[in-house]
Amino acid sequence: MPVLLPTSTEAERDASLRAAVARLAEGGLVALPTETVYGLGARADQAQAVARIFAAKGRPSDHPLIVHVADAAAAEAYAAEIPPLARRLMDAFWPGPLTVIVPRRPGVAAEAAGGQASVGLRCPSHPVAQALLREAARAGVSGVAAPSANRFGRVSPTRATHVMSEFAGQPEAAGLLVLEGGECEVGIESAIVDCSRGHPVLLRPGSLGRAQIEAAAGEPLLAPDAQAPRASGTLAAHYAPRAKVRLMDRAALEQGLGVLASSLAEASRASRKPPTLAVYSRLPKPAGISGVVWRTLPSDPAAVAHELFGALRDFDDAQVSLIWVEEPPADSAWDGVRDRLQRAAAA
Ligand code: TXA
Ligand code: MG
Repeated sequence: MPVLLPTSTEAERDASLRAAVARLAEGGLVALPTETVYGLGARADQAQAVARIFAAKGRPSDHPLIVHVADAAAAEAYAAEIPPLARRLMDAFWPGPLTVIVPRRPGVAAEAAGGQASVGLRCPSHPVAQALLREAARAGVSGVAAPSANRFGRVSPTRATHVMSEFAGQPEAAGLLVLEGGECEVGIESAIVDCSRGHPVLLRPGSLGRAQIEAAAGEPLLAPDAQAPRASGTLAAHYAPRAKVRLMDRAALEQGLGVLASSLAEASRASRKPPTLAVYSRLPKPAGISGVVWRTLPSDPAAVAHELFGALRDFDDAQVSLIWVEEPPADSAWDGVRDRLQRAAAA
């Protein structure tokens, strides 16, 4: 079983950080809270430590991980160079929910980078992550490789309890230390910008707006092309709950609900088991729909990002087999949320 490390009081926090740093230093696994999602961390400079992450996640070992650092100075240890473009983005958004891909320093963190010639670097703003990275650096661990702390392909964790249940009964994660850090503020993973190929390429949208990133970069963000590196967070099917997710526009959803009302009535007349369904939408719940898990989709994209992965887990916990989600609006403020929903629906 994973072990939860409390951080509510100063004394708890100090003791928990000490235990976590010791575990990282000896090459073990520590789950850490960040402002985006919880990460499953190991020291980035040891092949064996990084191998433990891949084993615990069940993730293919050629998928590159993000290396988390305490500040921009610590990033230098992993980069062959920090291109001016990357520097501008780091200045604007670090610490915060942005990962830059830069050329990797040869001979450093090759396993964490999945063998790529580049490396993904991120400086998280969560106070527990910041404290952990600073203390770890003092103990000789200058970077922590950490993918989201979920089994491969599943929904990323936004609470320590999600991490605990994700790895309960997982022998490769036995004794995993999980640092308590409360509910993640942002709720979806960092935006990833590839700065290793001259022009900025948005590999994964996050909570930062496209316009905001472009303003800091000083040029437009390009879309990934065929040469873009592999990224598991960019696989078509990812972030999937156990239930099947369907993204529907408002008209399709209204039509589906109409059909559902009559089939629920029919099932109850015939004493058959009704379909187990969750609806996540801005529509008011229509009359005649009972036994459906109904959750209102907030109208603000940041609010949806904040609760999205928790909501998908709640639907799974309610044991529904289907989740109908109203498609988010088309404007770019919704890019991060839309991306996660489309991938959940593709699984
Ligand atoms: O918000 C986040 O970024 C979270 C927290 C824990 O920091 N981490 C996270 O890690 O989402 P993960 O491993 O689930 O997703 C990392 C993404 C993957 O899609 C990976 O392929 C991509 O970053 N990535 C990492 N290094 C890369 C590189 N050198 N080139 C291209 N993509 C890279
Ligand atoms: Mg992930």
